[in-house]
Amino acid sequence: MKIKTLTPELVAGKIVLVRVDFNVPLKNGKITEKTRIVESLPTLEFLLKNGAKKIHLLAHLGRPGGKICPEFSLAPVAAELEKLLKKPVEFRSDFTAGSGKIQLHENVRFYPGEKKNDPALATEILEKTGAEIFVNDGFGVSHRAQTSVIGFSGKIPCVAGKLVEKEIEHLSPFLSAEKIPGLTVAVGGVKMETKVAVLKHFCQIAENVIIGGALANTFLAAQGFDIGESLCESDFAKMAREVLEIAETHKTAVHLPIDVQCADDPDGKSVYLPTEDVAGSLKIFDIGPHSIASYREVLKHSKVVIWNGPLGFFEKPPFDSGTRAIAEEIAQNQSAKTILGGGDTLGVLKQFGIEKSKFTHVSTGGGAMLEFLEGKKLPGIEILKT
Ligand code: 3PG
Repeated sequence: MKIKTLTPELVAGKIVLVRVDFNVPLKNGKITEKTRIVESLPTLEFLLKNGAKKIHLLAHLGRPGGKICPEFSLAPVAAELEKLLKKPVEFRSDFTAGSGKIQLHENVRFYPGEKKNDPALATEILEKTGAEIFVNDGFGVSHRAQTSVIGFSGKIPCVAGKLVEKEIEHLSPFLSAEKIPGLTVAVGGVKMETKVAVLKHFCQIAENVIIGGALANTFLAAQGFDIGESLCESDFAKMAREVLEIAETHKTAVHLPIDVQCADDPDGKSVYLPTEDVAGSLKIFDIGPHSIASYREVLKHSKVVIWNGPLGFFEKPPFDSGTRAIAEEIAQNQSAKTILGGGDTLGVLKQFGIEKSKFTHVSTGGGAMLEFLEGKKLPGIEILKT
């Protein structure tokens, strides 16, 4: 994939507009996980080092729906960025240009035009900031056809930032139509809708596909297992069966939990059961010890691993065991190329105290990573193509 990238000549003396993905988790106004901010630093440092005249940052937080919602203000992010960059960051409540070298503008999703990719909003931003070049460095939002992601295309030159470049470099090899030797893909979480296409793709090119989380319940139910009252997307039963058929055709081993940890409710007493013994009011909240052992074995012998999504209700011990074990096993396999991503992944690593440096690449994308891997064209990347 050939995309336009940053060069010193492009930015020297220019007013640069940068779309970043600062959609970070907040609790009581405090940022609980700052990877996405940290990952924007190489681009900002490049711009500063190469003489950009001004840097205007556009970002979103949450889904305020085109209205001003103080709880979705980017003000805490501006303060955090200032700390990380060790440079002043001017926070602007509209798109008017201030005097600072680096300016972060308030949540672009406060504007109704953003989601609709309204050209009037793009024009307003360009006029007010005076931007001469646009850098997309918001990989995590590149699957959204919104003003701040694609609206400047055709108006000013658009290039990829360092993070977008890095994400593409690590994820592109998996767009292959050929089998990748030693590849294991572990997928958990919920929302079959966002994962079916990626599962279908990897059931063709991976050697192993491990399934956990609520996703596994849907697959188990589709195969006729009684899963009690577990979370399940029964509308996707047919698609789950299609995924399994594709895997069979391509001789890809699909690993579903052979045992599980369940309870009537997450605060109640939990039990380990073989998957076929789940019934009645029980709900599956995690994979069981035998599944953990067999998944670990597969991961230990893999040469390439992609992992997206927790394998159980990891926020609530004791249902964190499966996710923790898989995270630790992948982190231990230092001879493999290991790629992690997905909305919850960064939180998972933080909760278990596992360093990101143990993995080859931790993607900042959730939905964007999945859509990229399934081979979809991401609007925010398409505008960067040469
Ligand atoms: C994300 O958190 O995945 C990105 O920031 C995109 O956010 P969105 O799903 O609200 O568009």
